[in-house]
Amino acid sequence: MLNREHMPVSSQDEGEQQLYIEDLKNRIYGKGLKYHIVTYGCQMNVHDSEKLAGMLSEIGYTETGRQQDADLILFNTCCVRENAELRVYGNVGALKSYKQANPNRIIGICGCMMQQSEVADYIRQTFPFVDLIFGTHNLHRFPQLLLQALDSNHTVVEILDSEGAVVEHVPTKRTQGVSAWVTIMYGCNNFCSYCIVPHVRGRERSRRPADILAEIQKLAEAGYKEITLLGQNVNSYGKDMDEQYLFHNLLRDINEIEGIQRIRFMTSHPKDLSDDLIRAMAECKKVCKHLHLPVQAGSDRILHAMNRKYSSKYYLDLVEKVRKAMPDIALSTDIIVGFPGENEEDFEATLRIAEKVRYDSAFTFLYSPRKGTPAAKRRDQVPAEQKKQRLARLNELINGICMEKNQEHLGKIKEVLVEGPSKNRKDVLTGRTDTNKIVNFKGSPELIGSLIMVRITEAHSWSLEGEIVKND
Ligand code: 5AD
Ligand code: SF4
Repeated sequence: MLNREHMPVSSQDEGEQQLYIEDLKNRIYGKGLKYHIVTYGCQMNVHDSEKLAGMLSEIGYTETGRQQDADLILFNTCCVRENAELRVYGNVGALKSYKQANPNRIIGICGCMMQQSEVADYIRQTFPFVDLIFGTHNLHRFPQLLLQALDSNHTVVEILDSEGAVVEHVPTKRTQGVSAWVTIMYGCNNFCSYCIVPHVRGRERSRRPADILAEIQKLAEAGYKEITLLGQNVNSYGKDMDEQYLFHNLLRDINEIEGIQRIRFMTSHPKDLSDDLIRAMAECKKVCKHLHLPVQAGSDRILHAMNRKYSSKYYLDLVEKVRKAMPDIALSTDIIVGFPGENEEDFEATLRIAEKVRYDSAFTFLYSPRKGTPAAKRRDQVPAEQKKQRLARLNELINGICMEKNQEHLGKIKEVLVEGPSKNRKDVLTGRTDTNKIVNFKGSPELIGSLIMVRITEAHSWSLEGEIVKND
């Protein structure tokens, strides 16, 4: 078993990993090996899986959609809520028969769940057929770890405690044709009292502006039209670097890159949304008029206990400021119900803030205690049944508001970036408005990747239907 705890990750690793890729290439050449990656959780994880897929493609593996056909099965896990973890345990358990059927098959588990040492230990003990376990901080070392797993009869485990320097130039196999994700920073410094993310993703580390801009330039040259900048809290981009170059500077520079038509980003912590950023959003034509601004709760008592560092008044004033600068901006949010100690009055404050802001969309969650976070230790946990009832009440309110907001679009003509064919409807294309509304409409596939005008004919809570009116 391997353990490189406390070893710094350096840029030397970049070149080193290329050597392991070459080694693996020779070893698997001509064997026609296939991989299958299962991803849980947020966009950050999906993008990490694109990097794992990129490394595997370079080695010579090809992708298969069928787990049973894969010579390498990789689970990229999430631990933000308990149900994601339970699904991983169930699905890893089910792999035992695959391993028995083909002992040469490699089974790997990585991602946020593995950064918790007790979880990695549990996986190793409960599922001894797993070949490889690694965390988020050493994702780029996957080629080396895979080589070790291929040569070992034991589970290869490598979990790094510290995050080390940002590693650039990891091969990436992007799954989307029109839109690409670009991580601009890793980690989080906020320590919201319910959240495991800072514990598994480490402290904030911004990528260098030149590296980000070069990556986006390349994406533009490859034909990508939209990019989404990713980070746990993109609003604090650059604060960990010496240069006076912050998120609003980055947005303005990306706005100048030819070929890129739309810029999105997520997530924004309300406490760090600066006036400079609001101004940059309003002034940069390519920056989409959509802001994901998690509120989490409406009660000041609960916001304080969550360590969110703002009040409901601050949040509402911020929303007003944002809407003053960009009157048509769409707002979305994350809300947690049933945080420890939340009483009926606190919950009603959450309903009230949702009513006041009138979100275009919202992700609502039952509070899930996460081991190692302060909120999980509290004794005043809200009973499960009460949490569920509150979530149902909140969802009903939100769905109604989202429906009303979508109905405001009826008859209007919107610019839509065509993303691809609809998943389940023949001859129907799907795309998004600048404000992140999903629009489905009839059209031919050559429109994919272009910006077209669509008249909205029907509204649902989470999407719109339309018809093409003009093709630019
Ligand atoms: N329980 C429920 N929801 C959580 N989130 C983060 N941690 C928890 C938890 N322990 C939610 C927050 C965050 C989103 C990504 O996940 O709303 O914004
Ligand atoms: Fe978690 Fe809060 Fe950081 Fe978001 S800002 S990742 S909720 S600790």
